[in-house]
Amino acid sequence: MTIESPSILPLEVRGLSARYGVVPALRDVDLVLRSGEIVTLIGANGAGKSTLIKAICGLVRPTAGSVRLFGEEVTGLSPDRMVRKGLSVVPEGRRLFPEMTMLENMELGAFARHDAAAVKRDLDRVISLFPELKDRLGTHAGTFSGGQQQMIAVARALMSAPRVLLLDEPTIGLAPAVVDRIADIVTQIAHSGVNILLVEQNAETALAIADRAYILEGGAITAEDTAHALAASPDVQRAYLGI
Ligand SMILES: Nc1ncnc2c1ncn2[C@@H]1O[C@H](COP(=O)(O)OP(=O)(O)OP(=O)(O)O)[C@@H](O)[C@H]1O
Ligand SMILES: [Mg+2]
Repeated sequence: MTIESPSILPLEVRGLSARYGVVPALRDVDLVLRSGEIVTLIGANGAGKSTLIKAICGLVRPTAGSVRLFGEEVTGLSPDRMVRKGLSVVPEGRRLFPEMTMLENMELGAFARHDAAAVKRDLDRVISLFPELKDRLGTHAGTFSGGQQQMIAVARALMSAPRVLLLDEPTIGLAPAVVDRIADIVTQIAHSGVNILLVEQNAETALAIADRAYILEGGAITAEDTAHALAASPDVQRAYLGI
């Protein structure tokens, strides 16, 4: 294990731009994750949230700017290289393999790892985060409820032993009690030492658990502050909190 200076940022995005054909989707985005933080990125439909996640993790090639992970320049690396560097994503819509069991979905998350003993330890540790699912490891993922599938998607992402975890709208479409459960899980994961970028339209929950927040509009960051301060901002309340 290497000792890292606390000043090294787990994730540092500078001047990131991306486009689909001629249509710009991200414009000059600056965003950082400091050690130990939950950071949330709030944005409406089509603001570019998923594009930002994809541009960070290598699924969309940026047209400008840089991505650094723990100080290392990783811009444009392939998604599987990014996983090996400690970045993991819970994608929008979960993207589980419905015909595979919960356990098989989780094992896929560990595809890049070769230390079987460490993977087994992590499997036990990750399952302990989800006591409601621990007896259903052999059940096909497609038969779980939406909230449970979201938990499995989080569990799969954790099986790569990430140091930075990106979550794309993990609470969308879930009942309030399930949203609260997911929020608790995200907080627990952060306390276990994983740095988290939580992308959400559900600003209320995200701002409640995040340390800092960014607002993304039309592919550009339009505000950045502590989550507490943004939750108190009249503009944010009007646009994202329905107040
Ligand atoms: N594969 C694609 N090809 C062309 N345009 C795309 C593609 N994916 C997204 N876009 C466009 O880029 C913009 C940003 O989309 P993106 O999916 O990043 O938004 P989002 O904030 O994640 O929205 P949502 O809340 O609906 O998930 C939108 O205008 C969208 O129509
Ligand atoms: Mg999206």
